[in-house]
This record gives sequence, structure tokens and C-alpha cells, in this order.
Amino acid sequence: MRLTRTVLGIESSCDDTAAAVVSGTAKHAVIKSSIVESQTDLHAAFGGVVPELAARAHAEKLDHCVELALRDADVALKDIDSIAVTSGPGLIGGVLSGVMCAKGIASAIEKPLIGVNHLAGHALTPRLTDQLPFPYLLLLVSGGHCQFLIVKSPSDFTRLGGTIDDAPGEAFDKVAKLLGLPQPGGPSVEVAARTGDASRFKLPRPLLDRDDCNMSFSGLKTAVLRTRDALVSGDNGLTEAKRNDLCAGFQAAICDVLGQKTRRAIAEYLYLKPIAPSFAVAGGVAANQAIRGVLESISQETGLVFCAPPLPLCTDNAAMIAYAGLALLEDGQISDLTLSARPRWPLDRTTAPMLGSGKKGAKA
Ligand code: KG4
Ligand code: ZN
Repeated sequence: MRLTRTVLGIESSCDDTAAAVVSGTAKHAVIKSSIVESQTDLHAAFGGVVPELAARAHAEKLDHCVELALRDADVALKDIDSIAVTSGPGLIGGVLSGVMCAKGIASAIEKPLIGVNHLAGHALTPRLTDQLPFPYLLLLVSGGHCQFLIVKSPSDFTRLGGTIDDAPGEAFDKVAKLLGLPQPGGPSVEVAARTGDASRFKLPRPLLDRDDCNMSFSGLKTAVLRTRDALVSGDNGLTEAKRNDLCAGFQAAICDVLGQKTRRAIAEYLYLKPIAPSFAVAGGVAANQAIRGVLESISQETGLVFCAPPLPLCTDNAAMIAYAGLALLEDGQISDLTLSARPRWPLDRTTAPMLGSGKKGAKA
């Protein structure tokens, strides 16, 4: 029988400061507490996350989040068996704040430190919530990421493909900004799309002619910009009804691209002949009901079990980091106090970085 352990997780790679306590084994773990302090208000006026402000806010909030996580879990530091921390990829100042905080705690209580890849945290969440058996197919779709992964173990991932430019969440946020809707853009575009007519504006579905799992969303965003400009200078300007139609058209294009590429990824995954074929989604965009609906019905059609973790575990949180740490700890994969913060850290180091994967190089 495997040893039950209690892990403190710390997450600070973007604009959420989070701490959590997870207890149990990798097969069956329980979230004892999960604290997430969002910085949305701090960055609202800037139309995006300001890395320097984010890093300072993390440094200020981390201690407090850790205290709250311990209190909610009703455990003391002496009860913690290990400290897991996001050590990349992400905004370097924020990652560094978390790594320094975790090192301080680990050295004070003399317990092992575990550096966790943020993407592995998202990718392993279906194990925490649904004990999904390996290997499973995962679509990670958030503000910073969009990729299909085959998850084979806590440290073995194969990337089938992903976006070659923007992530869908980023596109939702930019489209909201273009149309004067509040941030974060995903929920506001989704609400506007509900009453819109998706067929009114013809928007592109890039890369659907390519027989692979790669995607592109920046052209779609530019098409929305052009359509908006044409509407603004046309008769009656950009009315609320037209804006809702544009949101609906944009969301339908995202659904089509994600849906068709999911079919392709499922076909590649099924080549492995998994014993219990399963498909999971993670990341903030998985909150979108229309997208979730498309992915779920494709899973059903192709005979896969569909898993969508509860929303607070789809978006950034520290429970996923604590859980990934627990799984790595069981596999003996611990770090030491030389652990460094990594702004870029692809999960699958065997697959070549994607062409055009951002001005800053391949992040994931
Ligand atoms: O995973 P997450 O919390 O943070 C990272 O990006 O890592 O995802 C946030 C992203 C934002 O871009 C937000 O606009 C998007 O998820 N999002 C949505 C919805 N809710 C959040 N996108 C589409 N529809 C939604 N309902
Ligand atoms: Zn994330």
C-alpha cells in the first residue's frame, strides 16, 4: 500500500497567487484546501497582465495565501510532507516569487521541495478529480496555452500539436477588447454570443485544410478587427445586435477549429490502443459551454470517456500543483534548493518546437 502524504502547493506563474493542501496518494488524493487570490483588478486598467506588477503582488500575497491554505486544511507546517511549487513556464518574476517562498518553507521545515511544470499541473488534474487512467488525451486550452497532449505518466507527455500563434483565451480577450466588452474576455464574449447569429459574418477557420493537430487563431482575431472596423464606419455603426452576432461568429469559428482538430487528435491517440480511451479538457477556456458541448459530443461519438474538471480546477490553482507534486514525490522525482525558475519549459522535450510559436520562442 502506498504511503499517504500531505503536500503544500504554491502557484504564481501568471496573475493568480495560489496555495493549496492536498493529501493522500497519487491514486486517491483529496483537496484539503485551495486558496486563489486573483490579480484581475490590479491589471484591469492595462488591458493585460503587467509582469512587474504581478511579481510584486505575488511576493506580497504568497505568505498570506499559504497561511490561509494551512488554516483551511486544518494542518500545521509540521504536518506537511513536501512543498510543491510551479517552477515554470510562466512570467519569470512571478515564478521566482513562488520558488523563493517554497525554498524558504522547505528549508525551514526540512522537507523535500518539488519543482512542478505548470502545464503538468493542468495535465494531471483529471487524475486528481476523476482518477482518469493513463494514457489519456488532453486538450489544454487557456489564455496562454493550446495544445493536445497524450498524458502517459506524471512525467511523460507527448504533444500532438498546438497553436502556432495565439491561444484561444488570448483571442477571446483581444476580441472582447476590440468590441468594448469587459475582461476577462472569454465570459463576456460567451454571454454576448448567446443572443447572436453566428452565420451573419463569415470568419476564417485557419489550418483546417492541414492534416495535423496544429491550430492558428491570430488570423481569426484580425478578421474580427476588420469586420468591426467595417461595421463602425458603415450605416448605424456597431450596434449591440451586430456585436453579439460577431461574438457568436467568432465563438463558432473557435468551436469548429477545436472540434475538427480534436477529431484528428483522437484518431492519433487511438493508435496507442488505450485500454480505457478518455479525453479531458483543462484550462480557463474549458469553461465555455459551447466549446465544452462540442468536445463532449465528439468524445461520445468516438466512444471516449469525457472528463471536464470542475471550473475552479480548470483555471489556475495550487491544488493541481500540490497534486502533481504528490505524484512526482511517489515517483521519487524531487528537487533541491538549487531549483531554478524557468520562463520556458516544454512538457514534451522530444517533439520539435512548433514553427512560429511566438516571438519569444517555444514556451510549451
Ligand atoms: O487557465 P486560465 O485561468 O489562465 C491561463 O491562461 O493560464 O485561463 C484564462 C483564460 C482567459 O483568456 C479567459 O478569457 C478564458 O480563459 N476564459 C474563457 C471563458 N472563461 C475564461 N474563454 C472562453 N469562454 C469562457 N467562458
Ligand atoms: Zn494555467
